[in-house]
Amino acid sequence: MLSRKGSLVAFAAACLVSLAAMSGAETHKRISGRTSPPQKPIVTPVEGPSNLHRLGINFQASGMGRTGVWGPTPESYEPPPTDFTEAETNTRPVVLSGADIYRLSCQGCHQADGNGSPPEIPAITGPLQATSATLMERRMQERGRPITPAFARELAAGSKKDLLDRLKKGGQKMPAFGYLTESEVHALIGYLDVLAAVPDKGKPATVIEPRERVGELLVKGTCHICHDAAGTWPRPEELLGGSLPPIAGFTTKKTMPDFIWKVRHGAPVIMGSPPAPFRGRMPVFDYLSDADVASAHLYLMKYPPRNAGGLEEPRG
Ligand code: HEC
Ligand code: HEC
Repeated sequence: MLSRKGSLVAFAAACLVSLAAMSGAETHKRISGRTSPPQKPIVTPVEGPSNLHRLGINFQASGMGRTGVWGPTPESYEPPPTDFTEAETNTRPVVLSGADIYRLSCQGCHQADGNGSPPEIPAITGPLQATSATLMERRMQERGRPITPAFARELAAGSKKDLLDRLKKGGQKMPAFGYLTESEVHALIGYLDVLAAVPDKGKPATVIEPRERVGELLVKGTCHICHDAAGTWPRPEELLGGSLPPIAGFTTKKTMPDFIWKVRHGAPVIMGSPPAPFRGRMPVFDYLSDADVASAHLYLMKYPPRNAGGLEEPRG
């Protein structure tokens, strides 16, 4: 049997965990400050201006969030089939691989092959290869400036630290991914090693996550590149002028099937004055699955976006 003190500690820990499940930034800070591994992700709402808004870049002038795939014209559009509800009912936890985390969090900018779209978005290959002691030693050898294995390991460790720092704090234009857990980062890096053909890579790792977390990764890593968390839903003439709707309106303005369809296949939008249907300007994310996008819908229902960037609350 547990001692009285032991059971008190267990009780306190359980309270912390349930507090965390209720979300909230304060709780998040408290838990992530601990050193013992609370590897369960703490889901929080998306908040603040989009990455492009933060940088003051028009989405049409940037390669960020681009897939190169466009939606259908109003004439060729076919709406989702009426029996399209399968993804809606699935609420089981999901096994995520490093490749999945990459798809949800990084691919919108760095592309499927990791090559990005230079010069704005550099390839990830160089910085990843620099985390390999084997490659560092080989490179220096080839350049006629051999280094010791110990020094190669030291250089590689420095590069690994740079990579982890970049993920945690972001870059100049790259958003921060400080919300990724250690296990998620571990799985992700396993896949980045594959993409960058790093020789001394570890075993591929996976994480088991609630579907809300999958949705959170997708919304924060991809949708929030272009869409502000909160704000006013634009009128048709504002849409034509380049305004983007806020994430906060997605679940009220769109049914789940229409939401999934817009993201995966594209859908025309009503723009201009007088309002008329146009081919949308949002890229089509054909590399996402129905389940990925349904998870984003579930996440947004459970964790409504927060206003944190001095933007207006949604109007409708
Ligand atoms: C919104 C676009 C965007 C997303 C999403 C993004 N990045 Fe980046 N990344 C950039 C940009 C832009 C740079 C160039 C440096 C800068 O301006 O921050 C960059 C640079 C990098 C670099 C360094 C490249 C170099 O040559 O120094 C690495 C490594 C990297 N990103 C990895 C990732 C990983 C891993 C993810 C997913 C967790 C990710 N990025 C998500 C935009 C993005
Ligand atoms: C590259 C910028 C960009 C990214 C990234 C992006 N969107 Fe959009 N989105 C747009 C634009 C532009 C519009 C305005 C309508 C249009 O042109 O299609 C839009 C409109 C929408 C709409 C409203 C459609 C309507 O009929 O009113 C929804 C819903 C939406 N996006 C969801 C998403 C989701 C979910 C993601 C992430 C998976 C995402 N978007 C990522 C640019 C983007």
